[in-house]
Amino acid sequence: MKRVFITGANGLLGQKSVSVFSKRWEVLGIDLHQTSFLDSKNATYRGIDFTDKETLLESLEEFHPDVILNAGAFTDVDGCEKEKEAAFRANVGAVQNLVEYCSGENCKLIQLSTDYLFDGKEGPYPENAEENPVGYYGQTKFEAEQLIKANLKNYLIARTNVLYGIANKVRSNFVTWLIETLKDGKPVRIVTDQYNNPILVDNLAEALRECAEMDLTGILNLGGGEYLSRYDFALKIAEVFTLDRNLITPIVTKDLGQVAPRPLKGGLDETLARRLLSTKLLDAREGLEVMKRQVQGKP
Ligand SMILES: NC(=O)c1ccc[n+]([C@@H]2O[C@H](COP(=O)([O-])OP(=O)(O)OC[C@H]3O[C@@H](n4cnc5c(N)ncnc54)[C@H](OP(=O)(O)O)[C@@H]3O)[C@@H](O)[C@H]2O)c1
Repeated sequence: MKRVFITGANGLLGQKSVSVFSKRWEVLGIDLHQTSFLDSKNATYRGIDFTDKETLLESLEEFHPDVILNAGAFTDVDGCEKEKEAAFRANVGAVQNLVEYCSGENCKLIQLSTDYLFDGKEGPYPENAEENPVGYYGQTKFEAEQLIKANLKNYLIARTNVLYGIANKVRSNFVTWLIETLKDGKPVRIVTDQYNNPILVDNLAEALRECAEMDLTGILNLGGGEYLSRYDFALKIAEVFTLDRNLITPIVTKDLGQVAPRPLKGGLDETLARRLLSTKLLDAREGLEVMKRQVQGKP
């Protein structure tokens, strides 16, 4: 059985990846917390800070993975502007540690990256578009990609955007936040000028496992199958979860006052992934319907 070492295993994507990979792979998941949030009984978990090089390398040398899936990161986009040192340590320093391990071993690195590498003037972006991050989160993810490209041959940079879904004890994502807010009958203002192709996290984890099993290398966009504004996405969420769409008011980004600048026409062109993978990248409604069945406890 092949072995995968999954960082950020307690995070949204990490939890789903552990669950999807552990059906066919031996899995060691790591994250900051001493206890695991994982449901999967088939995976081992360790509380490790991946910026601590010595402990990380010890654990890697012992497990000897075929693949490292780096789903761990400092993902709070506004927080990255305020805590630059911590963001750099997690998003670049830890990647440096993983690159050092992979360059000495026959181990593939799958790095999760983002459409925040781009300035948002002309998304959705293909794999070969020129990067120009507008905020510090995007800057750190860009530097991580550069490190990997300069030092490794056996890597896959999987770029994604706007993950949603449910997992244990994770921070809320756009969809879970909107559902809770509308359920409470509270009004929300949602931007009409930020565009992406959101992806259900379970769908992304399946696509990542297929990429690992196909041994794909290079850069691959893994976004959802539908490009839409955040406002239109919000209306679909209200519709699928039968919530009050009249509570949703359109607003533009410049009136929202977010700390970090946002790429407006972001998102990722997933044409190549559609050609290469048999995993179907779900459109917004399909992904939300799957999530609804999970929320209702249906298979
Ligand atoms: N979410 C999105 O919309 C999105 C979009 C594009 C790309 N991505 C990328 O996709 C990947 C997964 O995102 P996600 O939403 O699943 O993130 P997430 O839920 O925030 O999970 C990241 C995990 O990494 C952990 N972590 C942070 N610093 C660490 C450290 N020093 N040592 C060990 N673990 C550490 C976090 O722990 P704490 O919770 O304790 O900090 C968290 O459990 C990331 O690389 C992200 O940049 C995400």
